[in-house]
Amino acid sequence: MSEPFTIAIDGPAAAGKGTISKAVAAHFQCAHLDTGLLYRVVGAQVLQGAEAIEVARSLTAEDLEIDGLRTAAVAQAASKVAVIAEVRAALLDFQRAFARRSGGAVLDGRDIGTVICPQAEVKLFVTASAEVRAKRRYDELIGRGETADLAQVIEDVRARDARDMDRAEAPLKPADDAHILDTSDLAIDQAVAQAIAVIDARR
Ligand code: CDP
Repeated sequence: MSEPFTIAIDGPAAAGKGTISKAVAAHFQCAHLDTGLLYRVVGAQVLQGAEAIEVARSLTAEDLEIDGLRTAAVAQAASKVAVIAEVRAALLDFQRAFARRSGGAVLDGRDIGTVICPQAEVKLFVTASAEVRAKRRYDELIGRGETADLAQVIEDVRARDARDMDRAEAPLKPADDAHILDTSDLAIDQAVAQAIAVIDARR
């Protein structure tokens, strides 16, 4: 892919977007941006007392490398700052520039196919039941050595789903032309294979 070619991968928390996006980017040898990290950086800084809009306006690529962005507390803080229109607006240009770089790009998030890159060449909406997603997130947290309670993780996932889907600004929903990939009953390698097949069909 030497021309710009944007692959938009959206979906709710822990549906498998991250793993699928990384595998797809490796397969097609293109760049990958986990846009959730942008909101996580803002959320993490707000937890430290910073002002959300200011953080979003001054964010740089290096900020995405900071430690501690993957915690449950930062995820909740991220979804709270993500409802602020000025925060989303401040992060728009960075994402669009990334999407149109030469060599192709995979962006994963909530609003890539609907708002950030409505002209993306391929759009995938990766989803799974809330219970399956919560169990995956629980296993991920335990695997990283964090303590977690499954009932609490399910509650967190549901709270974040509700906040992401019900917000006025760029709510989480599939684009009209998105391919829906339900990973509830798929192993990760099957989900990746299906994603690659969809992208191959559109190239
Ligand atoms: O990894 P996980 O799916 O749990 O979360 P994430 O992708 O890191 O996103 C964290 C939060 O950022 C989400 O719950 C959304 O509220 C927000 N977000 C967003 O609003 N738009 C995006 N394109 C990406 C994330």
